[in-house]
Amino acid sequence: MDLSTTIAGVRFPSCFMNASGALCVTRDELLALGRSHAGAIVTKSMTVEPRDGNPTPRYYAFPGGSINSMGLPNLGYQAYAALIPELKEFGKPVIASVAGLCEDDFPTIAAIINAAKPDLIEVNLSCPNIPGKPQIGYDAEASERLLKRVRKVITVPMGVKLPPYFDPAHHTAMGEVIGRCGVDFLNLINSVGNGLVVDPEREAVVIKPKGGFGGLGGTIIKPVALANVRAFWKIFEGRIPIIGTGGVVHGVDAFEHLLCGASAVQIGTVLVEEGVSVFGRLETELAAQFSKKGYAKLEDCRGKLQEL
Ligand code: SIN
Repeated sequence: MDLSTTIAGVRFPSCFMNASGALCVTRDELLALGRSHAGAIVTKSMTVEPRDGNPTPRYYAFPGGSINSMGLPNLGYQAYAALIPELKEFGKPVIASVAGLCEDDFPTIAAIINAAKPDLIEVNLSCPNIPGKPQIGYDAEASERLLKRVRKVITVPMGVKLPPYFDPAHHTAMGEVIGRCGVDFLNLINSVGNGLVVDPEREAVVIKPKGGFGGLGGTIIKPVALANVRAFWKIFEGRIPIIGTGGVVHGVDAFEHLLCGASAVQIGTVLVEEGVSVFGRLETELAAQFSKKGYAKLEDCRGKLQEL
């Protein structure tokens, strides 16, 4: 079964890859992704300085999902720039995820990372976990300003990772921004921030940062992720490729993302819970779903969700 895909002219041997943040901070983790069945290697979102991130516990899995407030722990952009040539030797696309603690950080990082020649760059406008720093993707003006600045220094395909939007008016407003900024692909969605998980036994929150508030992931966010994939697929009539992220735990979840218009899917919670062997399982399950439905490749079903 052909589970390969193409995003912004870059071919991926498999449509499954890690979501930035999941097992992709250290060199060892990134090399393990390279050796795995993953269709790409996505780096942790990087900042100018290396960061330890928020205090622990900062990740908690529960039936149906997870909550995290990692706080962008990462090696710093210079370390990832140095690692990119080694990661490219695996012969699959490398996606560098660029973040920042202020607007000026983004072009600084993007220019150096671009020079290291990852196959694609994903600009993360949606980290919900830095105390005192709102998600840029919820500010259309700031997003446009920032994307236009990074676009000037990025020569590889440039994507943007957005937070979830919950109203069509917000899909439309952000769609207009995206349409003006030369964005080559979208990644939808980052974790749903900010949620709060309560342990009734301990009568306490389950993660330490921000009084227990954090980004939700896993099965519980799938309908939100699918809605965002579908909304942006319709806004751009399929012209901007979409990576669907959120709630992919089984092959059939990926199939649903493809039907909504995704060209690939990223996994977070299930990767953290199962480790890199999960990629083989997901490929087998999606291939079985394709066989059952009589599809031979992704393009046969992408965007073909029927409306009633
Ligand atoms: C984090 O490191 O806190 C998560 C990053 C993100 O969700 O973008």
